[in-house]
Amino acid sequence: MATANPEQTLMLLKPDALRHSLMGYVLTELSERHTGLCLAAAKVARLSRLLAEEHYAEHRQKVFFPSLLDYLAGRVHYPDEPRKRRLIALVFHGPDAIDRIRALAGPTSPAAARQERPGCIRALGTVVPVPDARGGVLCQRMENLLHSSANSADAEREVQLWFKPDEIPPLLRGYDTEVSDAHYYYKDGQLATAPVRGGACLAAPGDVAWKNDLAALRSLSQGQPASRSLGAVAAKYLLNQADEGDC
Ligand code: CDP
Ligand code: MG
Repeated sequence: MATANPEQTLMLLKPDALRHSLMGYVLTELSERHTGLCLAAAKVARLSRLLAEEHYAEHRQKVFFPSLLDYLAGRVHYPDEPRKRRLIALVFHGPDAIDRIRALAGPTSPAAARQERPGCIRALGTVVPVPDARGGVLCQRMENLLHSSANSADAEREVQLWFKPDEIPPLLRGYDTEVSDAHYYYKDGQLATAPVRGGACLAAPGDVAWKNDLAALRSLSQGQPASRSLGAVAAKYLLNQADEGDC
């Protein structure tokens, strides 16, 4: 690649960005002309529970997590239009991609964004009180238009969580791939190396997969611990399938 310190980062356009027709604005802010970053991959996806829990594993125990899922799943912005409940997932590639996008996005809280960084993308977001069962306020939900990876470890985990290698042009793949020499099937949270009725084939001999995914599948199929969970490997292969559970 011609750039000095190319990085990759995952960005999600959240349902509020779509509902408020801000997709064009956000993409203009992130255009190659403005940022020097190159769009490496893009997809429209319905958020599954598997994906949401893997993506936001660090927040699973937080009080705002259920409300965050309602928001990301599109139930808040499209209560009566389930077909419009989706996210746009993007991979950007280029010098200091992670920090550049985080800087353009601004602080997590739209209120802080407006105060501290007028003009940043999240300054257009909304802070919404989340009620508790007794009519009080449980917490606040940050509807902040986009997600972007926080650091290089998160970026690697998130790009490989949302995208298969063949969804990224070969010269724009930022992480090692490997050719599978075995079959791996997934069904209901279980891994198998022989076909399972109704199961999804994660990899067959000759398929190109993320090297880290194949290492995890190999270990898990032998009952060994792995560096990533089966859910993290499988989620992208199950995206947008009709019978995949909503989150
Ligand atoms: O997105 P970012 O990395 O800036 O923030 P985070 O702390 O990793 O939180 C992930 C997402 O959870 C945020 O972008 C918010 O949408 C949501 N959140 C929330 O609703 N309320 C909070 N107090 C913190 C985060
Ligand atoms: Mg974060």
